[in-house]
Parts: sequence; C-alpha cells; structure tokens
Amino acid sequence: MTIDLAALPEDFLWGTATSAYQIEGAVSEDGRSPSIWDTFSHTPGKIDNGDDGDAACDHYHRWREDIGIMRQLGTNAYRLSVAWPRVVPGGDGPVNAKGLAFYDEVIDGLLEAGITPSVTLYHWDLPQVLQDRGGWPARDTAEHFAAYASVVAERLGDRVKHWTTLNEPLCSAWIGHLEGRMAPGFTDLTAAVRTSYHLLLGHGLATQAIRAAVPGAQVGIVNNLSDIQPATDRPEDVAAAKRLDGHTNRWWLDPVHGRGFPADMVEVYGVELPEVAGDLETIAAPLDWLGLNYYFPSTVADDPTGPAPHVRSISRPGVPRTAMDWEVEAAGIERLLLRLTHDYGARKLYITENGSAYPDVVRPDGVVDDPERAAYLEQHLAACASAVRKGVPLAGYFAWSLLDNFEWAYGYDKRFGLVHVDYKTQKRTIKGSGHRYAEIVREHLGRGRSAA
Ligand code: GCO
Repeated sequence: MTIDLAALPEDFLWGTATSAYQIEGAVSEDGRSPSIWDTFSHTPGKIDNGDDGDAACDHYHRWREDIGIMRQLGTNAYRLSVAWPRVVPGGDGPVNAKGLAFYDEVIDGLLEAGITPSVTLYHWDLPQVLQDRGGWPARDTAEHFAAYASVVAERLGDRVKHWTTLNEPLCSAWIGHLEGRMAPGFTDLTAAVRTSYHLLLGHGLATQAIRAAVPGAQVGIVNNLSDIQPATDRPEDVAAAKRLDGHTNRWWLDPVHGRGFPADMVEVYGVELPEVAGDLETIAAPLDWLGLNYYFPSTVADDPTGPAPHVRSISRPGVPRTAMDWEVEAAGIERLLLRLTHDYGARKLYITENGSAYPDVVRPDGVVDDPERAAYLEQHLAACASAVRKGVPLAGYFAWSLLDNFEWAYGYDKRFGLVHVDYKTQKRTIKGSGHRYAEIVREHLGRGRSAA
C-alpha cells in the first residue's frame, strides 16, 4: 500500500516505543524496589499463564544490543519509560544512584546512535511502598511523583528535551482501580475517581518540575483515546456513546485544556472530586504537545446495569481483528488526530503508540514473516499522512513496540514487537514488519536528504 510520505514534515520523528516494566527485567537488581506491577503479577490468577515481569526482555542487561537493533531499523527516535522504583525506591526520599545511572547510560547510548530519546516518567509502575501508603487515591502520591520527576529531569535534562509525564492515565485509573484488570487491581469507583484526579494533579506538578529543571523542555501527556460509534441510533445508545466519550476522552483532555472536569461525567460517577483551590490551574499547565496512543475503534450500546459509565462494547461482524480481539480500523486514528486539532486546538501531536498483536511463527530458517502486522502499520501510517494533508500538526510516530514484551495481564503470549523475542534464549529477530518499517523510514528520511 502506498503511504503519502511526502505529506510528512522533513524533521518527522520515526520511533519505536517500550516501557520499563514490560522490557527491563532485573526487578531486584541494583536497589530497585517492587512496584505495584510486581505485586499484581505475582498474585495468582491475575496474569495469563502465571507470567510476570521478573525477566521480561532482559533489556536491563541487553540495552546495548537493543540500541543496535534501532540502528538497524534506522529509526531516529525512541520512547522509553523510567521506572520510579529504580530511581526512588522508597517512593519519596533518597535517590538510588545506580538506578539513575542505568538511564543515564541508555540516554548516552541513544544519542551516540543518533536517536532522539523521549522519556516517559510514569508508565504504571508505582513503587509498592507508596501503594501501601494510600497509592493514587491519596493526594501525597501526586506530590511524590513531582519530586521524583524533578530528580530524573535534573539528571537527564541536559540531554533529554522530550518529556512525557503520564502514559495512559485512563488505564491506571479506570482499569487499575475500577475494572481491576490491571495493578493495583481494585474495583472501587471512589478510589478510581480520586486516582484520576491525583494523576492529573501529578501531571501538572511534574510539568512544573520538568520546566524548572530543563531549559527548552518539550513536555506532553500521552492518552489512549477512543474513536467511538453508538451501536444503533437509539437515543439510549447515542447517550451511551457520549458517556464513553466522557469516560475515555473528555475526562482526560478537558482538564489539561483548562476546561475543568466534564460536568456530565461528574454526575455519572456521583463521586465528589478531592479538589483544592488552585488545582485546576496546576492541571492545566500549558503543554508543548499531546501524545495519542491508538489501537482500535469502539462501538458501544447502553448497559444500565453495568458499572459506570454503563456501556457495553459491541463487536461488529466481519471487521478484521488482531490477536487481542481488537478491531482494525485505521480511519479511527485519522478521526482522533483531526479531533485533537479542531476541538482542542493541538499545535503539535505525536502518535506515541500504535501497533498490533498477531501470533508469530519463527520459521525453520529463522525468518519471522508477519504480513498482517506490516499491513496494519502501513494502513495506520497512510491514515496519519492523510490527516497531515488535512492540516494536523503531526510531528512523529512511535511504533508499539520495538520488542515483543510483557503485555500486562496477557503476559508474553501477545506479541506486539517489530522484533521477535525468544524468551528462552533472549534472541532477537527483526520481523518482516520491522524490515518494512525500516524501508518506510529510509524512504522518508532519504527524501529529506535529497531535497536538502
Ligand atoms: C499502553 C501501553 C502498552 C501496551 C500497549 C498494547 O500504554 O497500553 O502503553 O504498555 O503494551 O498499549 O496493549
């Protein structure tokens, strides 16, 4: 399929993305303390096949090899997350020099390879000690987060300009505290609403901390937004779609854009916000960019008996699906990019994650051919390019993921990598989709060079 690469800016960032707990392993090395994900993954029944992140991709020891793979792919950017429990194992207080030194070396390695690092401070791995002291439902956690952000920004900020406060706070709040399918595994609406509030407060405080520490910082937040359609045009289903939009999109976007928390959703939840005067201004600290993680579209019907927001997902017959059972619809990424541009006035956007899981097979000759993943990548890139033609200020694309990795509650069975990982040997093999991505990146960057 052809992708209108000429539409993309010359200085486009072509990246891959990962997160600390999903790839690093080495969970008890060099002073790292347990996070809520260590606790959750070691709780029987929470993760498919009883998997955990103890070893993961052993990236903690193999990061040089992994940067070598990025070089082979020819990407010019990499989105990683820093593990709070490595850097500040007590949650607040003393800094662990060895934990910081690890990220310091990785950043130097990336820069030597000509790869721009994009650092996420929170990809769900809250130190367990802070969970024990109340976790995100407690206001203190937001303050501890900002203090940790300051430590990391001060150390890496001479070389890292591209910062993300939170990754997908929706998952931490709604999936972790309301649905219980992610750490810490609660099913408590009040705790979930308080979590959402304190996460956004933490985002605002961390934004200030990063700006204070890093001259020229480019700060953003990463959301996984939903492209939503009602299952039918019955008024109940239309209202359900509006509630899901409130729950997954507006609740996360409106406050950071100075619009406060959506009143209709405050009513749906019926939980008082733990608001202190001045918080809304902190949460709305100006940002340099917004990150969009997009995987699949949603079709929903009214479900008055279910938990808030009282909606039920409908699967549409005949729509192609990935191994996650997620529908494939590239037009959704374009619609969301246009919405962020038109409804929220975004001045700079990144696709911070996009990708697909399929059951890969390593052939006897060692080749991993994954035409479905390559097609998913092409379709979504084509939709991004089309959005840019319509005026969307898209500045980069980060494929999820560089490596197959620990896919949270699904364990290692669901493979999202452009690079295959054999977990027994830790052997890495670039898949067909990885080669295809390298070709696209080369074509676009080559165009820039020949134009110069
Ligand atoms: C996410 C995540 C990733 C997932 C990916 C696929 O932010 O949800 O950042 O950790 O692995 O989305 O489910």
